[in-house]
Amino acid sequence: MRLVLSLFTLLTLQLSATDDITTCKSCHPTIYNEFQTSFHKNSSIKDDKVHAAVWNRHPAKAKGKYKCAKCHTPNNSSHEGITCITCHTITAIENHPKANKNIYESKAKTFYSAEKGMEDKKVIYHEKSSWFGLVKETTGSPYHDIDYTNENFYTGKVCMGCHSHKHNGKGFSVCQTDKAGAESKESNCITCHMPKVKGSATSIRQSKTHAFHGFAGARNQPEMLKKYVEVDFKKELKGFTITVENKAPHNLLTHPLRVVQLKTTLKRAGKTEALKTETFVKVIGTNNKPSMPWLATQVVKDNMIKAKEKRVLSFDKELKSGDEIESILGYYIVNPKAAAKLGLEKEKKLTSFTVLKHSYFKIP
Ligand code: HEC
Ligand code: HEC
Ligand code: HEC
Ligand code: HEC
Ligand code: HEC
Repeated sequence: MRLVLSLFTLLTLQLSATDDITTCKSCHPTIYNEFQTSFHKNSSIKDDKVHAAVWNRHPAKAKGKYKCAKCHTPNNSSHEGITCITCHTITAIENHPKANKNIYESKAKTFYSAEKGMEDKKVIYHEKSSWFGLVKETTGSPYHDIDYTNENFYTGKVCMGCHSHKHNGKGFSVCQTDKAGAESKESNCITCHMPKVKGSATSIRQSKTHAFHGFAGARNQPEMLKKYVEVDFKKELKGFTITVENKAPHNLLTHPLRVVQLKTTLKRAGKTEALKTETFVKVIGTNNKPSMPWLATQVVKDNMIKAKEKRVLSFDKELKSGDEIESILGYYIVNPKAAAKLGLEKEKKLTSFTVLKHSYFKIP
C-alpha cells in the first residue's frame, strides 16, 4: 500500500482540495463516473422526475417545507442528491419507528470503507521525504484518512439508515426493506448492488477491481441483478408451470409504485400466441382503494414476490412436441394506473416495460 507522488502533484492537489465532491474525481475517476448514472446521485427533485412528481402533489409542499431531504438530499440542499461524503461518513445507524437515522462523522475528511484484510485498521495519511525532499513516499490517501473498522460497511447495515422503512404521518409503513439483507458479510446489499467490477478504485494505487458505484437497481443497470432471479419451466400432465425464484432478501421490487409482470407466449408451428400475463404488486391506499402514500392507511393488495420466495405459476395450456415457450419477467417503474395521476404518462422510460429476464423453453 505504498505509493510515490511527486512533490508537484501533491502541492497542486492540496491547493485544489475543497470538500466539493468533484475533488473525489481527481483520484477516483472510474467510481466518480459510475456514480453519475446512479439514482443516489440522481435522487433530488431536480434530477428524479418520479420523486418530483410525487413531491409536487404532497400537502407539505404548499407549506414550503421539503420533507424528503433526510434520505433524498441529505446535504440539506434540495437540489443535490446523495453524495460520496454522505455514505462514507456514516458512523452508525439509529433505529426509530418512523424511519431510521444516520449518524454522521463530524471530523472532516475521515472516510469509512471496507476492505478484506483491513478490518481492524485506520489508515492515516503520512509521508516520508527522500531524494532530498524531491520525492515523497506516502501511505494512504493524500486527501483523507480511511477508517476500515466500521462493521456497518461489511454487512450492508450502512444502507439501512435510509432503506429500512418509512412511515407516513398516519403511522403506516409506506415502504420497507427486510433487514435480513444487511446482516451477513458474505451476501448483503453491498455484495449484490455494488459488485466488484473491472477498473481501479483509485488512479493513484492501481487495483484490478472496485466496488460498482452505479448502484444496480430497477432504474439503473438492472441486468447486473438478473442472476438473482431464476425462472424455471416444468411440463405437467396437464399444461405446465413456470417458477419465479427471487433470491433477493427483500421483495422482488420494494417501491409501491412498481408493477412486476411475467409475460408468456407460446410459439407453435410458426404462430405466436400470447398466454396469460401474471402481475405482481404491493398497492397501498385507504378505504380499499389505492391512494397517494401520505394518505395510505392499509395494504390494498399484496401479491408481490417476497424475499427468497419461489412462486409457482400454473398454465393450463397443453403442450406438444416442438412447442416453444418464451417468458419475460420485467416491470414498470411507475404503475401505469398511477402515471396519468402523476403527470408522467408521457415519460417513455418510466411508463414502458423494462425487461429483467428473458427465458426460452422448448418441448422436445
Ligand atoms: C489526492 C487523491 C485523492 C482524493 C482527492 C480523494 N481520494 Fe479517496 N483515496 C485515495 C487513495 C490513494 C486511496 C487508497 C488508499 C489506500 O489504499 O491506502 C483512497 C481511498 C479511498 C477510500 C477507501 C478505499 C478502500 O480501500 O476501501 C474511500 C472510501 C475514498 N478514498 C473516498 C474518497 C472520497 C469520498 C473523496 C472525495 C471527497 C476522495 N476519496 C478523494 C486518494 C484520494
Ligand atoms: C442476493 C442479492 C441481493 C441482495 C443481498 C440485496 N438485493 Fe436489492 N435487489 C436485488 C434484486 C435481484 C433486485 C430486483 C432487480 C432490479 O431492481 O432490477 C433488487 C432491487 C433492489 C432495489 C430496487 C427496488 C425498487 O422497487 O426499485 C433496492 C432499492 C434494493 N434492491 C435495495 C437493497 C438493500 C437496501 C439491500 C440490503 C438490505 C438489498 N437490496 C439486498 C438483489 C439483492
Ligand atoms: C450509497 C452509499 C455510497 C455512496 C453514495 C458512495 N459510496 Fe463509495 N462505497 C460505499 C460502500 C458501502 C463501499 C464498500 C464496498 C466494498 O465492500 O468494497 C464503498 C467503497 C468505496 C471505495 C473503495 C472501492 C474498492 O473497491 O476498493 C472508494 C474509493 C469509494 N467508495 C469512493 C467513493 C466515491 C468517490 C464516491 C462518490 C463519487 C462514493 N464512494 C459514493 C458506499 C458508497
Ligand atoms: C442517505 C440515504 C441512503 C443511503 C445511505 C443509501 N441509499 Fe440507496 N437509495 C436512497 C434513495 C433516496 C434512493 C431512491 C433515489 C431515487 O430514485 O430518487 C435509493 C435508491 C437505491 C437503489 C435503487 C437504484 C435503482 O436504479 O433503482 C439501490 C439499489 C440502492 N439505493 C442501494 C443502496 C445500497 C446498497 C446502499 C448501501 C451501500 C444504499 N443504497 C444506501 C437513499 C439511500
Ligand atoms: C427514510 C428515508 C426516506 C425518506 C424520508 C423519503 N424517501 Fe423516498 N425513497 C427512499 C428510498 C430508500 C427509496 C428507494 C426505493 C425503494 O427502496 O423502494 C426511495 C424512493 C422514492 C421514490 C421512487 C423513486 C424512483 O426511483 O422511482 C419516490 C417517488 C419517493 N421516494 C418519494 C419520496 C417523497 C416525496 C419523500 C418526502 C415526502 C420521500 N420519498 C422521503 C427513502 C426515503
